[in-house]
Amino acid sequence: MPDLSTTLHQLSLKNPVMTASGTFGYGKEFSDFIDLASLGGIIVKATTSEPREGNPYPRMAETASGMLNSVGLQNKGLDYFVKHIYPELQQINTHIIANVSGSTIEGYVEVAEKMAGLDHITAIELNISCPNVKQGGMAFGTSVTSALEVTRAVRKVYPKTLIVKLSPNVTSIVDIARAVADGGADVLSLINTLLAMAIDAEKRRPVLSTVTGGLSGPAVKPVALRMVWQVSKAVKLPVIGIGGICNATDAIEFFLAGASAIQVGTANFINPRVTTDIIKGIEDYLLRHNLQTVRELVGSI
Ligand code: FUM
Repeated sequence: MPDLSTTLHQLSLKNPVMTASGTFGYGKEFSDFIDLASLGGIIVKATTSEPREGNPYPRMAETASGMLNSVGLQNKGLDYFVKHIYPELQQINTHIIANVSGSTIEGYVEVAEKMAGLDHITAIELNISCPNVKQGGMAFGTSVTSALEVTRAVRKVYPKTLIVKLSPNVTSIVDIARAVADGGADVLSLINTLLAMAIDAEKRRPVLSTVTGGLSGPAVKPVALRMVWQVSKAVKLPVIGIGGICNATDAIEFFLAGASAIQVGTANFINPRVTTDIIKGIEDYLLRHNLQTVRELVGSI
């Protein structure tokens, strides 16, 4: 059988298929459908220092080849995560990666520092790219100075693998990627959602309560591929590709563009078994192309 294993800084993954934050809950919601241990990793729903109720409904909308969300980082906060969610995550035999979000640098640092002490959380993904909050989120990821500052502050308190999730809502993703690398990131994940909106013509008003939201799904894949390709050529850090991946062919395209691993997001809402289908499809592709390892594909266009 071909070797699907890959590495992201200090993380050895059994395969390169992970789930994107906010699309897979805390894993157990999907355990009736798939063996969670078969995944390369699970990036769990975002955690902030304080509980957040999220944005008012409606906060999701279907669009052509995609969807909009404006959830607003709803979660029960850091203390609840440590007390009630972490013990359940310890039962899952794969990499569990916490998505660390915030509205201030202090908030990010507090969550990161706490996550560092949790043995079963093997890495964090610093979310500087959420487009749905009034303070923080994407504001950090769309300025070179702020992206550098928040990464540097978190790096000081977080010794394990630090992944930073980038926003596509910028003129030059390479400039932001370089800033984050200078700040001490170990791995880059991209892309988060594209700032977008939907309008209900009959009601003559925006569909989402927040007017704008983040676009994800197959519609964004070409943008994500382009950005993964640009960043992986410009920055010497491993890249995780995210954006509209629905099948093994999509995943392979991201490897060819330079991604060492991928995250599946919106497709989990359509088919809860899509991740295991993708793992099997990658294996089939490697066999068909007489390749021994998935690593041979990375950046090979
Ligand atoms: O609104 C949200 O919770 C989305 C988060 C994100 O895109 O990072």
